[in-house]
Amino acid sequence: MARISISIPEDLLREFDRIRGCIGYKDRSKAIQAAIRDFITQHMIGEGGEGSGAVIFIYDHTIPGLEEYISDVQHKYGDVISAAMHIHLDRKHCLQIVSVRGEWKRISNLSRKLRGRKGVKQLRVSVLGKVFG
Ligand code: NI
Repeated sequence: MARISISIPEDLLREFDRIRGCIGYKDRSKAIQAAIRDFITQHMIGEGGEGSGAVIFIYDHTIPGLEEYISDVQHKYGDVISAAMHIHLDRKHCLQIVSVRGEWKRISNLSRKLRGRKGVKQLRVSVLGKVFG
């Protein structure tokens, strides 16, 4: 375990401590380690790393051809998709939770293909990276 000493603006540290308290981190070091992992994960995307998590999106299933398009894309990205869940939210909208695992680049491309399509209202990618330490 390495020990570091850092400089940080007081208000930033106060807010960090407030938030970590709210979300259940009693130990400041543990919270900082989690923040560093998130930072690494977030910025590894362009570097050919791997991750696992989910792509979550809401779309309008009444748009002609959209369901077929979504299915086609998922077949093309079968190498990084391990499962998908479909929830009918109301008469018009569906939610899909697609679990993914593999290369950042593939997951990112998959997300882009879905996000840019007419009728896809909202999309979020939540992928976690290699766990250090
Ligand atoms: Ni549906």
